[in-house]
Amino acid sequence: MSRVIAVANQKGGIGKTTTAVNIAFDLAEMGKKVLLIDTDGQCNSTDTCRAQVEGVATLYDLLFENERASDCIQHMEKLDVIASDKLLKNPETKFPDDATRLFTLCDACEEIREQYDFIIIDTPPTLGCMLSNALTFADEVVIPVTCDRYGMEGISDLYVTIHATQKYTNRNLRVTGVLLNKYKEKTTLCREISEALPSVLAMFETTVFETKVRECEDCKKAQSARMGVQAYNAKCTTAKDYWNVCEEIVRRRA
Ligand SMILES: Nc1ncnc2c1ncn2[C@@H]1O[C@H](COP(=O)(O)OP(=O)(O)O)[C@@H](O)[C@H]1O
Ligand SMILES: [Mg+2]
Repeated sequence: MSRVIAVANQKGGIGKTTTAVNIAFDLAEMGKKVLLIDTDGQCNSTDTCRAQVEGVATLYDLLFENERASDCIQHMEKLDVIASDKLLKNPETKFPDDATRLFTLCDACEEIREQYDFIIIDTPPTLGCMLSNALTFADEVVIPVTCDRYGMEGISDLYVTIHATQKYTNRNLRVTGVLLNKYKEKTTLCREISEALPSVLAMFETTVFETKVRECEDCKKAQSARMGVQAYNAKCTTAKDYWNVCEEIVRRRA
C-alpha cells in the first residue's frame, strides 16, 4: 500500500522543499518506489530534482488541462517527479468553484497512487486551496519547523487547516510528526523549543521526530548544485539526519 506524505507549513524558508526532496531521494535510495509532486509554483523541488518545466506536462496540466497523471510523470534517475509550473503561482482562482474544489489533486492522482511505495508532496508557503488539495490527497503530514524564536509562529493556523481537512475532506489524515530543522545543538533557544514542543503539539496528536535536522552549509550547497544532500556529501550532518528521519518515517507506519 502506498503512503502519501505532504510536507507542510505555511511559513516560507523553514525547509519544506529541503525536507521533501531529501526524504524522497533517501526513500528511493532505500529501495522504495517514490514519486515527488511539487505543488509550489516557485518550482524549487522541481528544480532541485532537475525535472523539466518547459515542453512537458506539469502539475498545471494534470490539475487544469485534463492531462492524465501517467503522462505528467517525469522518470528521473532515482525517482519520479510531477513538476510544478510557474502558472501555479496563484492557483486559487483556477480550481473549480464547486464541491470538487478540494479533491482535484486527489482525483487526478487516483490512477497512479498504488504504483508507488511513497508519494511525497512539497507544498507552497500559503494556507490556500493548493495546500488543502495536498492534504486531502495525503495520508500523512510531516511538519518541519525551525529552531528559532519564531519557529512555532503560525502553527495554530496550520492546525486549523489540518483539522478542517480531517473534518470535511479526509478523515484519515494524520500528522506523522513535527520535524525540527536547522537545529543547532549548542543554542539554548533550540533546546527550549525542542523541550516545549511535545506539549505544545499535543493538539496535533503527534510527536516530534527523534532525529533533529542540524543546520549545515552543505545542505544549502546541495540545493544550489541541484542535488540531494546525500548525493552531494553523504558524510555531512544533514545527509545523516535526513537518512535517520526516513528510517523513522518507515518505522512510523500507522
Ligand atoms: N538543515 C539545514 N541546514 C542548512 N540550510 C538549510 C537547512 N534546511 C533548509 N536550509 C536552507 O534554508 C533555505 C530555505 O529552505 P527551503 O527548503 O527552500 O524552505 P521552504 O521550502 O520551507 O521555503 C534554503 O536555502 C535551504 O538550503
Ligand atoms: Mg519550498
